[in-house]
Amino acid sequence: MAIYDFAVGQTNPETFPVEEFKQAAIRAIDAEHEQFNRYPGNKGHEGLRKAMARRESEREGVPVDPEQIAIMNGSMQAVTLVGQALRQGKDDIVITEEFTYSGTISAYKGIGLEMVGIPLDDHGMRMDALSEKLKELSDADRLPRFIYALTTYQNPTGTCMPKDRKQELISLAAEYDLPLVEDNCYGDVHFEGEKVPSMFAMDDSPNQIYIGSLSKILAPGVRLGYLLAKEPMFSKIVNQRFDAGSNYFAAAVVAEFYKNGIWDHCEVANLVLKKKRDLVNAGLQEHLSDICVWSNPVGGLFMWVRLPEDTDMQKLIEVANNKGFFFAPGFAFHVDYANKPYIRLAFGHVPDDLIKEGIPVLASAIKHSRTSNERRNFETLF
Ligand SMILES: Cc1ncc(COP(=O)(O)O)c(C=O)c1O
Repeated sequence: MAIYDFAVGQTNPETFPVEEFKQAAIRAIDAEHEQFNRYPGNKGHEGLRKAMARRESEREGVPVDPEQIAIMNGSMQAVTLVGQALRQGKDDIVITEEFTYSGTISAYKGIGLEMVGIPLDDHGMRMDALSEKLKELSDADRLPRFIYALTTYQNPTGTCMPKDRKQELISLAAEYDLPLVEDNCYGDVHFEGEKVPSMFAMDDSPNQIYIGSLSKILAPGVRLGYLLAKEPMFSKIVNQRFDAGSNYFAAAVVAEFYKNGIWDHCEVANLVLKKKRDLVNAGLQEHLSDICVWSNPVGGLFMWVRLPEDTDMQKLIEVANNKGFFFAPGFAFHVDYANKPYIRLAFGHVPDDLIKEGIPVLASAIKHSRTSNERRNFETLF
């Protein structure tokens, strides 16, 4: 039986640069093998910090100091350390989008943070709702320790926050003097249109914390991500780590691979991913447009699909899985694990022919998991 694995946010395996990576590894071993005998320390490989500073600087058009970057064991380590550094005690709150990355939910709940979710619309976290919630929490003397936002190619919804809304977010965080974490894990998995500036490039505040990753533009198996922040926030977060630093060998190879910048490889990989997005879109249009609405993201790896209210999610999981189709249910991304009628389709890892074959399998599973066959009675994603 064919397996249609739309469950996990992984890149396209066929564009992994095997030959160039092999050559980069040989050069890195020749040049840096002596360093492999030492612990890398909190900041990590200097060459990779420089390469990521260059990446951020070239995208944002502002200078970025490699000394403000710490290499992490995937961006997930940065997400976790931020929570550990900013939590002060019991009952502490973090604000996120109502739907956010499932790994972040596990990490923050695991650390003991209470998560307060702000509803989204087509442009990400809603600022009217955030403003109201902050006022309510401030009145109750329960302001959050920080705000964590996925502003670009949001996981799971695929939304992007426009610049003017980011400005509002920056102003609200400043009004309450709150650290603002922008997790740009999918940064540079970009298909079309203008890139919106990141918040660290719009605001000089030492409360700006930025998280980047190599997982989505290169491969999650290298387990490399990074934190970008100013002092004293930088040390406050990085001093939470007790692992003697991230994999120096992997960092050396990746830095060597990117010695001429990241864009050439991104361009190749993004074109292939864009085609996959278009295939999912076409399949959904053909097979599900009468009953579902979905996002059409300008980047990232996900389509967020709104299902009819009468879909039985447990039944859908069972029916789809039995047919070899795997997806992530909406509740996995809800801050309270509420069973909302959504699913997330991660298209990056699925071969084109299996996308074409798989979407009709999903459509049939959805239709079998409903109590009616009525057309949808909604027009919007949220
Ligand atoms: C929003 C977001 N942040 C962080 C991560 C962690 O990624 P990694 O640790 O591979 O960099 C993910 C992974 O899917 C993600 O979606």
